[in-house]
Formats: sequence, C-alpha cells, structure tokens
Amino acid sequence: MCVEKALKKYSASNTARFHMPGHKGKSIDTEEDSFLDYAHDVTEIEGLDLLHNPKGVIKEMLDRIASTYDVHKCYLSTNGSTTALQAAILSATRPHDQIIMSRDCHKSIYNAVILGALTPVYLPIEYDENIKLSCIRDLEAFERVIRENNEAKLVVITYPTYFGLCTDIAKISDIVHRHNKLLLVDEAHGAHLKFSPHLPLSAEETGADIVVQSVHKTLPALTQASLLHIGKEVDEERVESMLSVLLTTSPSYLIMGSIEKAVTYMQREGELKLSENLDIIKERIDQLPYAKKAFKSSEYFKENGVFDFDRTKLLFRTDEFGINGQEVKHLLRKDYGIEMEMATPEYVNGFMTVGDNRQDLERLFDAMDDLLRKHMTRQDEHTTPSEIDNPSIPEQAMSIRDAFYAPKEWIEISEASNHIAGEHIIPYPPGIPLVCMGERITPQIKRMITRYLDSGIEVIGIKNKRVRIVK
Ligand SMILES: Cc1ncc(COP(=O)(O)O)c(C=O)c1O
Repeated sequence: MCVEKALKKYSASNTARFHMPGHKGKSIDTEEDSFLDYAHDVTEIEGLDLLHNPKGVIKEMLDRIASTYDVHKCYLSTNGSTTALQAAILSATRPHDQIIMSRDCHKSIYNAVILGALTPVYLPIEYDENIKLSCIRDLEAFERVIRENNEAKLVVITYPTYFGLCTDIAKISDIVHRHNKLLLVDEAHGAHLKFSPHLPLSAEETGADIVVQSVHKTLPALTQASLLHIGKEVDEERVESMLSVLLTTSPSYLIMGSIEKAVTYMQREGELKLSENLDIIKERIDQLPYAKKAFKSSEYFKENGVFDFDRTKLLFRTDEFGINGQEVKHLLRKDYGIEMEMATPEYVNGFMTVGDNRQDLERLFDAMDDLLRKHMTRQDEHTTPSEIDNPSIPEQAMSIRDAFYAPKEWIEISEASNHIAGEHIIPYPPGIPLVCMGERITPQIKRMITRYLDSGIEVIGIKNKRVRIVK
C-alpha cells in the first residue's frame, strides 16, 4: 500500500482520535472549505509506519523512489534539503575532518561545518563577466584542489546552480572518485532532471555518492519535502543514525505523501509535461521580439563556456534593455500579477515546472515582451559593481566554529579591515560569500561590500551598514 492510500483509509475509518496532532483531524475554521488538510495530517500510528525505522508504507515508498531515481538507497527529510545536507555531511565526516566544498555552497552546508567542527577547503567559483553569473568551469583547478587536499574524504558541490548553470558533473564525479573521495551533490534544484532527456544529466546518473534534492523546489510537492539518495560506498548506518539525530520525531505525513505523489506523477507524466512546456516556450518566444532578445537559452550559456543549462530556468537578461532585473521583477508583480523566483541587476529568473501550463507560460512571455517594449529606454541607476568578479578567498584566521561561539560586536564597514568576520557576508546575487565567519576582512572585501550595497544588492550579514566582527 502507498502512503496516500493508508492515510485515506485512516481518515475514512471514523476512528476517534485520542492521539496527536491536537486538531484531531478536524478543521478549526467555521467554513467547510478549510484551507488546511487536517484529516490527513496524522502522527505515526499503527498502519502508517515510522520514518526513523520504516518497515511498512514509508519503506515501500522509499524503495519505489530509490528505484525511480536508480540509486542504492533513498531517505527523506520533512525539513527540506537543509537537514538532509547536514545529515549527509555529518555522517560522512568526523569532527575536525577536512571537507572540500565549493565556495558557493548553501548556508546549510556552512552550518554543517560549524556543527561538525570541520575544516573547509574551498573550490573556487568563477564569476563570468559576460554572462554575469557563476559556476564551476575550470576542472583543472578543481582537480588541483582535490589532489592537494588528500586528507579530505568528502567533496561537496552545488549542481545545478540556482540559475540552472551546470558544470560537467560526469567529469567531476570521475575526478572525485579517481582520488578516492566521496562526492556529495547538493541537487536542491535538480529533482526534475532525471525525468527529461532534454535536461542536463542528473548527478545520481553519474554515480555521485550522495545526492540531496529539494522535491518541493522543482516537483509538485509540499514545501520542506526533500530526498537524500546514497550509493553503495556510503555508510548507511551512519546516515541513518545522523538522520535520527537531526530529523523531527513528528514527521509530516502530508509532506511525505506529497513526495510520493510528486515522484509517481513525474514518473508517469513528467517527461511529456516538461516537453510540452518547453515546446510552448519555444513556440511563443519566437513570436515576441523583445522577450526573445532577453530570453537566454542553453545556446547562449554554452557559447559562453558553460557546460550545460537547465532549460526549466526562465532567465531574462534585462540589463541589455537598460533595466535592472529587480525593477522588472517589481513591475511584473505590480502591473501584470506575475511573481518571479528571483532577480539580479541583470536577470529575472522564473522557474518552470510541470505545475505550469500554456496559459501561465504565455502570460509570462507576453507580459515580458510588453514590459520590455514599454520600459526599454529607461536607464536604471543600479548597475553591477565593476570590481566584483572573483575576489581571493581571505585568510582563515580562526575556525568557523570558534568564530561562531566567539564574543562579537557590530562596527562600521569603514573600520572593518583586518578584523575577523563574525558572520558570513554574502551578496545575493551571486550568493558566494565574500568572507566567511572566522576569515579576515581585507581592504578589498571591505570595498566590495560597500559597492554591492551601493548597487542595491542585498548583502546578507550586514545590518545598517555595519559588520559583525569577532571581539
Ligand atoms: C542550492 C541550495 N541548497 C540547499 C538549499 C536548502 O534547501 P531547503 O530549502 O529545501 O532546505 C537551498 C535553498 O534555497 C538551495 O538553494
């Protein structure tokens, strides 16, 4: 039996519920059409299995998902990829181990470094001036770091990026394995790749040892639904122990059921639905000159040296029309009722999934064409700072963990040079830390923080133009 059927059976059974959750399966709304599904939100009762020791419907679901993704074993997280990544990292390392990680890793991975008292060695990420985005491209430099850090057993990269840029994951997997290390791929944005031949290779197809996917980001599942896949080389028992340390003891059946439904749907309909949507995009864009010029396809990124591109990311380059992407995002919301995923000074980024249809896609493309036509002559005062690019990674003056626990204070940015950062300072975009906790702030970093702020870019870790430093 699947999780959905087991839940429906229980809901239909008219059982008097003297167990958690406190809503007892009943809506607290007065109207009949409650916005929450209380009836199927249950706890781990007889017949519904246990997430931490699955033997019934949850085990069957995980086995089916493992077979769909063609991996050795699959686990789930009802607390997003954040917890899945942390469990994966902490199970594949021991305290004080080295970990090789790409500098653009998500903050959950930096937080795993704190939790595990790990020593990070960074894989540099290139910011490309032409495309105004970043991704791992120089695989020789990648291999050099792997070779020079023999002690580290685990390598962590992000694939694809938030913007859909894809490195040569098959080569990366090969390099890491040749050096006898485990590869963990943060595929938070790639749970859909496996389901379409028109999309880049998925990490699990290249033999990556651990792959974490936010099912909720690209498949039709509820927020916080994530999967953790492992290969044969990974110590299953340590992964299971660490998941039981970090995961809630009250997993949401709605989230678990939504993972099962989403993966089943993708297996049946995913390829066709994604192809239909990709065809609609291609067909429509050809009729819209402004949107067409702004829309950046796989060909554009490949011509600019990116290995591959996930075409479900709808990237419109707006700076070429003299408009800041953040402004376009705002206008799309205000004038057209369209909410995009994110924007940079150069791009607006929308995610296409199987949840979209012809009407939604045409509405977006038509709106973009109209908006660019109307606003194209406007010059925006926000431009990307000129001195961005690839700042050198600062000296690690103390460990991230020691910096996390150290006493700290906030000071003016102008006084920050030579102090040790007490917070990660990360401009979004590009989302790559300028400086991490425990690293020394250089005059270049200080200048760049100011320039990012002056450009209207959000800089995480800065409050009221002040920087937190270790006292
Ligand atoms: C690259 C990347 N990894 C991991 C995460 C964390 O995923 P979740 O929100 O499912 O915890 C995110 C979230 O935005 C992300 O972008």
